[in-house]
Amino acid sequence: MSKQIQVSGLHAYYGSHKAIEDVSMTIEPRSITAFIGPSGCGKSTFLRTLNRMHEVIPGARVEGKVLLDGEDLYAPSVEPVSVRRSIGMVFQRPNPFPTMSIYENVAAGLRLNGRVSKSELDGVVEESLKGANLWNEVKDRLNKPGAGLSGGQQQRLCIARAIAVRPQVLLMDEPCSALDPISTLAIEDLMAKLKDEYTIVIVTHNMQQAARVSDRTAFFNLAGQGEPGKVIEMDETSRMFTNPSQKATEDYITGRFG
Ligand SMILES: Nc1ncnc2c1ncn2[C@@H]1O[C@H](COP(=O)(O)OP(=O)(O)O)[C@@H](O)[C@H]1O
Ligand SMILES: [Mg+2]
Repeated sequence: MSKQIQVSGLHAYYGSHKAIEDVSMTIEPRSITAFIGPSGCGKSTFLRTLNRMHEVIPGARVEGKVLLDGEDLYAPSVEPVSVRRSIGMVFQRPNPFPTMSIYENVAAGLRLNGRVSKSELDGVVEESLKGANLWNEVKDRLNKPGAGLSGGQQQRLCIARAIAVRPQVLLMDEPCSALDPISTLAIEDLMAKLKDEYTIVIVTHNMQQAARVSDRTAFFNLAGQGEPGKVIEMDETSRMFTNPSQKATEDYITGRFG
């Protein structure tokens, strides 16, 4: 089930350091939104504010609003753990649980959610691995360690693990930056398929990737060292890459800085 995210007036801090200033944007369901911009401009920080992972860092805090289909994720009654369950995350380095089998990696999140029967688990594991375009490669070795897969397969395993709990949103922080070009294309194909069902946000340093996979793009930038990151411009990806309205966006996407 895909949901819309509406962010308004969001600031994110690490102690006294403001990493993100006054971000407002709408992230549409059933589409892929890309975040681009030079390193250090707060893309990862902002991504982590969307599922309440930012605040796990001591001293880190958030001001502003994040609404998921109108529901305030920072309302006092909301449990951060339930937010993290409904808004899944995939990281830069594939991080399967190293001692667990392929099967157990995918089943792990469901087991946390409570008692599930073996046949139900089997069904979800198969469906999630199929959903992550990995089933055919691993169906004969589900009990082998997840860590024994190639990097690209491990990343698809992490995506299978993330979708097994049926999240409403998938956040991906440079999910291909540790992968070879073939695995990268496999992940991009997978994202194109998943967007029918999920709201997907991807941080990427790869301009071609943003142009290939995303529907909308937000360009983040910062005025200088120690300054907070801001969203300079957000638009349809095709517009952003052909006719951006800000000079800084054009300079960045044409490789003049960053
Ligand atoms: N765990 C942290 N503790 C303190 N500062 C951090 C932490 N993570 C990131 N920062 C700072 O926040 C700013 C934004 O970083 P980040 O969100 O990682 O940017 P990006 O993902 O765009 O490269 C940087 O100045 C960075 O040093
Ligand atoms: Mg980052």
